Amino acid sequence: MKELSRRGFIAAGCVGCVAVTVGCANGAAQSGPTRVGMGELRVGETLVLVDRQIVVTRGESSITAVEAQCTHQGCAVSLVDDVLKCPCHGSKFDRSTGAVLRGPATEPLPALPVSVDGENIWIG
Ligand code: FES
Repeated sequence: MKELSRRGFIAAGCVGCVAVTVGCANGAAQSGPTRVGMGELRVGETLVLVDRQIVVTRGESSITAVEAQCTHQGCAVSLVDDVLKCPCHGSKFDRSTGAVLRGPATEPLPALPVSVDGENIWIG
């Protein structure tokens, strides 16, 4: 099980989202569940876990996570204006579901299992 430090992710709320730069995510995602504290992810926020290549979003009634690697050719996506955008060829994805909003990618970002245990969110 992996626990993230505050420096391990970038957060952005959905209200008045601003551009968020995400570091380059080369290589495959690390294995094992990732823990995020409930207090680190407020309703309406999205966290981009750069080190783990995971995007986790807390909605009003659910928490979802998707891989942060573009399904077109594998570039790391970043949160820009409330959507996940790929810097390589411009694909856009829904930050909650990973659904393709704009190509050239044709496949959604893969969803990851999420569970909540008290004050912990477990991803993977
Ligand atoms: S790698 Fe993302 S759009 Fe091409």
